Amino acid sequence: MSLFITFEGPDGSGKTSVADSIEEMLRLEGYDILRTREPGGTPIAEDIRAIILGKRKELLDPRAEALLFAASRRQHLIEKIWPALKQGKIVICDRFVDSSLAYQGGARELGVEEVLTINEFATEKRMPDLTLLFDIRPEIGVERIKSNEEREVNRLDLEAMNFHERARNTFLQLAQRWPERIVIIDAEQSLQDVIEDAYKVIKAKLENI
Ligand code: TYD
Repeated sequence: MSLFITFEGPDGSGKTSVADSIEEMLRLEGYDILRTREPGGTPIAEDIRAIILGKRKELLDPRAEALLFAASRRQHLIEKIWPALKQGKIVICDRFVDSSLAYQGGARELGVEEVLTINEFATEKRMPDLTLLFDIRPEIGVERIKSNEEREVNRLDLEAMNFHERARNTFLQLAQRWPERIVIIDAEQSLQDVIEDAYKVIKAKLENI
């Protein structure tokens, strides 16, 4: 029994901490899990990602950035995600196509439809079975990032607040568009409550497949 789950949401939503707990809970129950995030440790996807986040990033055109995210995603899908699903694993992936739709399509204003088109090419239209959208107001997310000194503050974290607003709004629009796939989790709650909500949603899905 395989299941492809993605965790999505604005920066500072806590989704990575939630994924740590959920992964452990499901493993204790005996589920076979692949926990991954783009670029997933695949050397080619890492190389592509190094261009996006590297020292010449200011020169990177937004469409080129969107194409590189899609290329990195494709390589990760081929080398890690699809093989794991074929082996019957539950794949939990931190960020996937919806991040490109929200950040490149919405926040960078390239257009959701256009970014979806290149991602459909990259993924052969294989969308996740379940997506948890960890929703949080950007001002709260950014505050959380600033207060967490250990976490690397990357370029996109430092974008203007209206960039984060656009990303969040696009995520919420995606949840309306694909209600059977995307479940919104209130990420402004305590971490423990967020974990509990996420766990319930995943268990309900596992019991229905
Ligand atoms: P990531 O490395 O996943 O870090 P985190 O989720 O811990 O913040 O993402 C880094 C940034 O890249 C983040 O601000 C979201 C952004 N991003 C995109 O703009 N497009 C994408 O397709 C992905 C996967 C991420």
